[in-house]
Amino acid sequence: AIDVASLRSKTGYVCIDPAFVNTASTTSSITFLDGEKGILRYRGIPIEQLGEKSTFVETSYLLIYGKLPSKSELSRFSTLLTRHSLIHEDMKRFFDGYPSTAHPMAILSAMVLSLSSYYPEAIDVKNTEHLDITIARLLSKVRTIAAFSYKKSIGQPFVYPHNSLSYCANFLNMMFSVPAEPYEIDEDIVKVLNLLLILHADHEQNCSTSTVRLVGSSKANLFASVAAGICALWGPLHGGANQEVVTMLEAIRSDGGDVSKFVKLAKDKTSNFRLMGFGHRVYKNYDPRAVLIKAAADKILAKLGIKDPLLDIAQRLEETALKDPYFVERKLYPNVDFYSGIIYRALGFPTNMFTVMFALGRLPGWIAHWKEMNDDPTGKIGRPRQIYTGENAVDYTPLDERE
Ligand code: ACO
Repeated sequence: AIDVASLRSKTGYVCIDPAFVNTASTTSSITFLDGEKGILRYRGIPIEQLGEKSTFVETSYLLIYGKLPSKSELSRFSTLLTRHSLIHEDMKRFFDGYPSTAHPMAILSAMVLSLSSYYPEAIDVKNTEHLDITIARLLSKVRTIAAFSYKKSIGQPFVYPHNSLSYCANFLNMMFSVPAEPYEIDEDIVKVLNLLLILHADHEQNCSTSTVRLVGSSKANLFASVAAGICALWGPLHGGANQEVVTMLEAIRSDGGDVSKFVKLAKDKTSNFRLMGFGHRVYKNYDPRAVLIKAAADKILAKLGIKDPLLDIAQRLEETALKDPYFVERKLYPNVDFYSGIIYRALGFPTNMFTVMFALGRLPGWIAHWKEMNDDPTGKIGRPRQIYTGENAVDYTPLDERE
């Protein structure tokens, strides 16, 4: 192993790697990603297997605790999630303070941070009982907050979590039930929601996870660290891309549906336009999550009898881009965000909830990384260096002598 600290003190060098293109910030045993081959595994298990056989709750356990749970561990974990699904009644009043046009990501981040005011006790990572409850609180309450923020935005009464429902069915019920007409749970919809959340559950040191780790490295609490991660995820170059993809596909549709015009625009460096849902820092191959999501989109739309013109546009856009030398040379392929919005639309989610869905899925990854970092007794506060390019020592000029 390389002794980085002694190397640094011997050489005195500071490396510069803007945007961390080639710099590892940590070692981690959570997720393996081979961007050249398009491989993604959680704790060694391929996402294809987890997507087919697991549930979001089980995969969350796997990521956070490092192994698949036994029957009794899974049952205890599920019970904790059920027990901690309600938010404090006072928190419901917070929703009244937001305009109905507020983006649900703004509400989500603020509400997750607010959780730390209700559960202010410092988390002792060695106190497993307290840690487990804190983890369950976060995983379960974010789901309730997400559904409540949607209900608030459309002016409908909040639907409380139901103890007899599974994690995903419960969420769908909170989102789509109305007092006059309870939501009918469709197992195929529950399955596809599980799949989407599993496929978003972790992706090693991406922008939001690195944010959670950096904030957490100062020993900030779990809620505060994850609230920061939610803000990082919101950007259109990261999780916010799933909303932008559908906005882009709608723009192509209202422009007449000529995809080649938009591919041409994306190649024009003066246009400031990129194909949203295309390209990735690490994948130089088809994103394995996009493969599964594309297949799932075809299947669930067929089952629901939905013919979404945006799916057709997305497929034509992909075909055209993948034949274009610009995209081929740069190895730009569809990423996780390209087809996910098509499924969320089919399930009834409004476009501005798509990134919230990403956040819900990414929660176990953020928690797992926060925990892994805190479990490491040698961990230090994250503190990148810089190369200063400003003025050398300059004297202060009094105000009346300045130009
Ligand atoms: N459309 C057009 N050109 C692109 C695209 C795109 N979507 N993505 C990258 N390129 C081009 C760049 O202009 C650059 O070209 P150049 O070599 O001629 O300068 C080259 O491909 C390399 O791109 P970079 O921006 O240097 O790659 P980086 O690793 O920094 O960015 C990113 C990756 C942010 C994902 C980028 O591909 C992008 O903006 N994609 C669209 C937004 C998106 O889908 N984000 C979601 C990513 S997945 C996730 O976070 C969940």
